Amino acid sequence: MRVLGIESSCDETGVAIYDSEAGLMSHQLYSQVKMHAEFGGVVPELASRDHVRKLLPLISAAFKEAGLSVGDVDGVAYTAGPGLIGALMVGASTGRAMAMGWGVPAVGVHHMEGHLLAPMLEDEPPEYPFVALLVSGGHTLLVDVAAPGNYLILGESLDDAAGEAFDKTAKMMGLPYPGGPRLSQIAEQGTAGRFIFPRPMVDRPGMDFSFSGLKTAVRVEIAKHAVDEVIEDQTMADIAMGFQEAVVETLAVKCRRALQATGYKTLVIAGGVSANKHLRTRLAQMAEKERSRVYYPRPEFCTDNGAMIAYAGYLRLLSGARADLSLNIRPRWALDELGAM
Ligand code: KG4
Ligand code: ZN
Repeated sequence: MRVLGIESSCDETGVAIYDSEAGLMSHQLYSQVKMHAEFGGVVPELASRDHVRKLLPLISAAFKEAGLSVGDVDGVAYTAGPGLIGALMVGASTGRAMAMGWGVPAVGVHHMEGHLLAPMLEDEPPEYPFVALLVSGGHTLLVDVAAPGNYLILGESLDDAAGEAFDKTAKMMGLPYPGGPRLSQIAEQGTAGRFIFPRPMVDRPGMDFSFSGLKTAVRVEIAKHAVDEVIEDQTMADIAMGFQEAVVETLAVKCRRALQATGYKTLVIAGGVSANKHLRTRLAQMAEKERSRVYYPRPEFCTDNGAMIAYAGYLRLLSGARADLSLNIRPRWALDELGAM
């Protein structure tokens, strides 16, 4: 089965073609980052309009890259949620219209299920069951994945998502959007141990997260060290390092608990923050102690992309899921509402 996947939930337009025999045949991505940078964050209406501009050319390019004629697929998958309502509508209505025109089924995919399954596109995919840590701009979730579609949420963020905490802290430090990757770059020059920020909720049992208090702790240090609203570069790097250490340590502690609670030996990390180098090093150390193995998607599939939607859509279509004639998108949609496949 060959599936066209469309991702348009936020500020990336992604299109890909996945084939159950040939694997990933093509993937195309356009990031709107430059357009939103001027405003310091994603402007939803601009995002929707840009998806309208980019989606059709990307679909043509994906068919061309795969060496296929346009429409030569057995199904169409699009991100149905969670995400920005207008942005989701662009991918959903385009995907549905294409599917109808080509006479093939369509299916709406859960964006986080896409992230969770992204490592399955690699040459050495993880085996089920596993624990998944999903760390993106909108979500922080620890999931017990018994099988595709069989998800039990072990823990989630009670306030800011990990990526959101990175972005908001970066903004406070005066870094341009998107702040997360920039903050982690600056942290590389930082001195470990100069700033020790609280590790939120690690001293309490459970696997939930909370990152908003950490943001406040950083704000206090910034205010303390600013002279005429300017902070010395080294101090800024040291604060960035302290912040990153606190987030990473918290994530590592909760992942260890999840492995111990489930007895699983496989940990999958996905979502934008999984690109963070420090997180990868720390999780590798933790996993070694737990005699477990960590799997990531390739860097370009850590952040939003069409390939993960094409793959998740393929599994959903295979299990018989079909979008009905109403155009249902779900700006808010809990992962554990999904059915087994
Ligand atoms: O998964 P994603 O592309 O989009 C959502 O579904 O939200 O994740 C984007 C998030 C942003 O918050 C971004 O700052 C963060 O991932 N991010 C990082 C890094 N690269 C991306 N955070 C920390 N370190 C990084 N290297
Ligand atoms: Zn995402």
